[in-house]
Amino acid sequence: MLSEVLLVSAPGKVILHGEHAVVHGKVALAVSLNLRTFLRLQPHSNGKVDLSLPNIGIKRAWDVARLQSLDTSFLEQGDVTTPTSEQVEKLKEVAGLPDDCAVTERLAVLAFLYLYLSICRKQRWTKEDLELINKWAFQGERMIHGNPSGVDNAVSTWGGALRYHQGKISSLKRSPALLILLTNTKVPRNTRALVAGVRNRLLKFPEIVAPLLTSIDAISLECERVLGEMGEAPAPEQYLVLEELIDMNQHHLNALGVGHASLDQLCQVTRARGLHSKLTGAGGGGCGITLLKPGLEQPEVEATKQALTSCGFDCLETSIGAPGVSIHSATSLDSRVQQALDGL
Ligand code: PMV
Repeated sequence: MLSEVLLVSAPGKVILHGEHAVVHGKVALAVSLNLRTFLRLQPHSNGKVDLSLPNIGIKRAWDVARLQSLDTSFLEQGDVTTPTSEQVEKLKEVAGLPDDCAVTERLAVLAFLYLYLSICRKQRWTKEDLELINKWAFQGERMIHGNPSGVDNAVSTWGGALRYHQGKISSLKRSPALLILLTNTKVPRNTRALVAGVRNRLLKFPEIVAPLLTSIDAISLECERVLGEMGEAPAPEQYLVLEELIDMNQHHLNALGVGHASLDQLCQVTRARGLHSKLTGAGGGGCGITLLKPGLEQPEVEATKQALTSCGFDCLETSIGAPGVSIHSATSLDSRVQQALDGL
C-alpha cells in the first residue's frame, strides 16, 4: 500500500433529455462526456503522501505512517457501504483537517479517504466496487440538492449513454458519438430550489404541468429510439429529428419555470448559426448543450464558440460517451493533466 501513485478519473456528464421530469418518475437520458476530472495520491521519498484534486482545488499531504495506521482496521470491514461512527472519528483524526476547512472540502477528503481505504488499493474495480462508488457519489448529490434522482452519479460511474427510469438504469446500445458544445452560462443556480419550484408548479397546475412531464418523457423515448437507429445506420435526417426534440424540450423546460435569460441568449446565439440548444441539468442558469451536426466546418464551430464566449459564457467542444470512473497508470496521462496535478 501507498508505494505507488494512484490516479483516478471520472467523466463529466450531461442530461440529454428528461431533467426534472425524471424526478417525477419519467425517463431521462444521460451521457458521459470526454471531459474528465482527476485525482492523484502520490507517495514521496520523505515519508509523505500527497492527495491532489485539481478540479476542486484541493491539495493535502499526510504522513504515510499515519494512513497506514488505519489500513488494517479498514481492511477487515465487511459492509463498506456505511462507515461506522468510530471509523468516521478515526478518519477525521488521520485527515487532520484544519478547523477553518470548508465543509465541502472536509467531506470530499473524508469520503476520499474512506473509499480509498475500502477499495482504491485494488488494481481493477469489480462491479460491486463501482456500485459502492455510485452509492457514495449519490450521497454527494444528496448534499447538493436534497432529493436527487440518481441519474448524475450513475452516468459518471458507469460512463457511456444511460437511460434512467425510476431508479432503473440501462445502457443504450450502440449510441452514436455525437459532438456537442457544452456552454456554462456561469449564472449560479440552486438545484434544490429549482426542483422544488417544478414540484410546486405541478401541485398548483396539475392539469397543465403533468402533460408537460409526459411530453418530456415521450421526447426522451423518441431520442432513445433515434440514437439507436443512428448507432446502426446513421443518416442526416436523424440529426434533424434530434434538433427538433432539443427545441421542443427547451420550450417545455421554460414552461416548467426552469429557464433563464442567459439560456435564452445561448439558444438565440446558436440558432442564428443554424444550431439547436437546450439547457441541461437543473436550469435557471448553469449549462446548456448545443448539437454539432456532421459536416459543420471547424471555422463555423469556432465562430459559434467565440460568439458564446463574447456573451461571457465558457464554451467547450466535446463528444459524448466517455468511459466511467477509471484507474489510470501514472504514465498514461497527457502532459496537460500531469501539469494540472503538479501545479496546484
Ligand atoms: O443540475 P444537475 O446536473 O445536478 O442536474 C439536475 C437534474 C434534475 O433532474 C433537475 C434533478 C435530478 O436529481 O435528476
